Amino acid sequence: MTHTLVYPITARHNASGHLEIAGCDVVELVAAFGTPLLIYDEESIRDQCTRYREAFAQHTDDFEIIYASKAFPALAVEQLVLEEGLSVDVSSGGEYHIARAAGFPPEKIFFHGNNKTREELEYALAGGVGFVIVDSFQELKLLEELVEARGRDSGSRQKILLRITPGIEAHTHSYIQTGQLDSKFGFGLAEGIALEAIRQALASPSLELIGLHAHIGSQIFQLEAYRKAIEILVGLIAEARERLGFDCRYLNVGGGLGIRYTREDAPSSIGEYAAVKVEGVREEMSALGLPMPRVLIEPGRSIVGKAGVTAYTVGTIKAIPGVRTYVSVDGGMSDNIRPMLYGAEYEAMLANKAEWPADTVVTVAGKHCESGDILLREAVIARPEPGDTLVMPATGAYCYAMASNYNGSLRPAVVMVREGRARVIIERETYGDLIAKHRPLRPDLSPPDGGE
Ligand code: LLP
Repeated sequence: MTHTLVYPITARHNASGHLEIAGCDVVELVAAFGTPLLIYDEESIRDQCTRYREAFAQHTDDFEIIYASKAFPALAVEQLVLEEGLSVDVSSGGEYHIARAAGFPPEKIFFHGNNKTREELEYALAGGVGFVIVDSFQELKLLEELVEARGRDSGSRQKILLRITPGIEAHTHSYIQTGQLDSKFGFGLAEGIALEAIRQALASPSLELIGLHAHIGSQIFQLEAYRKAIEILVGLIAEARERLGFDCRYLNVGGGLGIRYTREDAPSSIGEYAAVKVEGVREEMSALGLPMPRVLIEPGRSIVGKAGVTAYTVGTIKAIPGVRTYVSVDGGMSDNIRPMLYGAEYEAMLANKAEWPADTVVTVAGKHCESGDILLREAVIARPEPGDTLVMPATGAYCYAMASNYNGSLRPAVVMVREGRARVIIERETYGDLIAKHRPLRPDLSPPDGGE
């Protein structure tokens, strides 16, 4: 079957003619846990972690794989990647909190963000966060002040990296390009800004500048952009070494490896990615006579993207003669905003009709009050009927993470499957959750049970 391309590695059709993941029949999962249901295959996540580790180990013994938890900041998944030896990238106080709750030791946490608040930084510093990736002059000052305030009792310097914007436009959707000059992220190279940031960081008595970071974008298929970014970064490192005596011990070259959402997609392999990143750094550094730093990478999407699928129940089917057939499902932009936000394309299948010919072209719509709530413009699936289980693969990254309660939707349940067993890793929200934080003007008119 063709499923291995975009589905979890354990996906297959079983004897009942259903889609099965890690020995679990998706139709049975849906009967047990309801829909929309996000199903993660544990083996697929572990397999990606292993691939990353092995690919990088072929090129260097000084590297660190950091899971960009924004892709799916779930306790269970973070525990799993921690077991797999990864570190974690957090981009807010909230993600930091989740990483700590998952058991990450603070020295394995990298704290990112272009506008970290004082409270967030204080929270992370209080926990002993390993690395702060400083994004602006303002943050440099603020962090210095906060570390100094704390330093009276601890005395040690806070390890930092500086986020550099190398001025590269990666081939990806403009919303997820981050390395170009016109960016809210990082220090640009123009006008000596990045060099000045390095100078200020080196001069700080409370901060220890150990390296640089650059992340040029996400869902990147063409690796040349990385090569170019590395060349630019290393140029800066050489200049900073010569002028300021900067010793770059860590070079964090970001995440961004694209994944396959449809079978037409042709992403690079982890092996190719590792080669470009490590050998790129090695070649550039050695060409300028610089020592090889520790190479850090921050994959998010490519760790969890393919491991997850979303199962929906087919509801209303509306054929507009000569136009199209709308198949509406019981989720949509509240659990997967990516098609609406980035024009992202997906595939779909009916899990209960896995062996039926996929011969019907339909438009899969969500249930929200927006015409733009379209998950798939042209899905080719088996003939759909109400009650079928429609599965969209490759929804493991940036779907639950970006989910909302729009239209009073409940965030879906999430299960992790392995060897025929399914475990709930995030409970489905309840109606009670929708108003749990609301404080009514007239409590006497609200039902005492909060409406659950
Ligand atoms: N490091 C930094 C500093 C980042 O900003 C990101 C992603 C990553 C690592 C991980 O990149 P990845 O390996 O996942 O490509 N919501 C968008 C993606 C936004 C990515 C934001 N930053 C989407 O659904 O496509």
